[in-house]
Amino acid sequence: MRRKEINVGLCVASLFISLYCGADTLREAFEDSFLIGAAVNRAIAMEEDEGSIQILDTHFNSVTPENDMKWEVIHPEPGRYDFEGSDAVVKLAEKRGLSLIGHTLLWHEQTPDWVFRNKEGNLATRAELLERLENHIETVVGRYRGRVYGWDVVNEALNEDGTLRDSLWKRIIGDDFILKAFQFAQSVDPEVALYYNDYNLWKPAKRRAAIELVRALKKQGVRIDGVGIQGHYGLGYPDLGELSASIASIGAEGVDIMVTELDVSVLPFPGSSDMGADVSMNYELKREYDLYPDGLPVDLQRELASHYRSLFEIFLMRSEFVSRVTLWGISDKDSWRNNWPMKGRTDYPLLFDREYQPKSALHELVLMAK
Ligand code: G3I
Repeated sequence: MRRKEINVGLCVASLFISLYCGADTLREAFEDSFLIGAAVNRAIAMEEDEGSIQILDTHFNSVTPENDMKWEVIHPEPGRYDFEGSDAVVKLAEKRGLSLIGHTLLWHEQTPDWVFRNKEGNLATRAELLERLENHIETVVGRYRGRVYGWDVVNEALNEDGTLRDSLWKRIIGDDFILKAFQFAQSVDPEVALYYNDYNLWKPAKRRAAIELVRALKKQGVRIDGVGIQGHYGLGYPDLGELSASIASIGAEGVDIMVTELDVSVLPFPGSSDMGADVSMNYELKREYDLYPDGLPVDLQRELASHYRSLFEIFLMRSEFVSRVTLWGISDKDSWRNNWPMKGRTDYPLLFDREYQPKSALHELVLMAK
């Protein structure tokens, strides 16, 4: 057999062996390191989106409702709860044995204004708001006791400089609103894991504040089991060394680290490159920020795959701390990044494309882990 034929034969064989011996799904690829989760919208929760369900069944072992357990959805009016979406997510998870994450009990966004107001329309008192918060947590956490693995109890309470965000939660209750939320959740379900979740925790000032928050809760006898580091990133962002340092130093406080809400935008970000995930930002749509309306060029696909690989190399290197990595969506068509920080863009931040096909980023991750 000529040398060339031998070389070709060896290449084919090694490709087959690497593919055969390697994993071919995300959850198999990382089964020895951490759970792999996905955020699901209402259509997926109701099992109306066949394509996404197929991907969920193949690649994921954890699930988070993107919106269906948020206050504005689940408790839209005083005394009225709407569990249609949340019950559907619980059923979806239980049917498949997926680890279910509750998102989120207390956030300054997607919380109806009535929560913060008295009958006259003025700001509620501390006592009134605490009673509402306790009632909400008792009802929601109580309903899913033993069925939710962990709750994002408080979401995004910190500013970029590490101070407490001046939300109505803080303004009305005071600085102890975080403590109260964790205490209420812990008393309703002593078994469920309790998390703090935020974006930009790779930044040193915010990292330090998260560490102080964990220490303060523990010092006051409150259980906090984990910190969710939201992964709303972009090409070349964030600083991987800082991200690695945050995973290790927050994890060193004796809490699980979960990389929550992972997506990687391929589009330019107006203003500073420090994008974060402040949903209140809303820029006017301009073509120079919507570069690929008709499809992502191959070189950008490769760059996206390479960045996902770099991120997962950090997660694997720090896997002693990392218990879960959750993608904030299944396919690009459903990503919130298509409408933030400007509505109507075409972004490509996830691992599956608009036709539910795996992108080169998916293949890169599956091949790297085994
Ligand atoms: O459900 C209504 C629909 O009935 C209505 O017709 C439509 C009209 O705009 O709005 C729909 O609600 C939208 C909801 O997503 C469900 O699609 C809201 O307008 C929209 O604001 C909401 O966006 C969500 C965003 O949080 C809100 O702040 C995104 O899907 C969700 O991905 C995003 O997730 C947050 C995390 O919870 C916390 N971390 C940041 C992350 C990104 O903002």
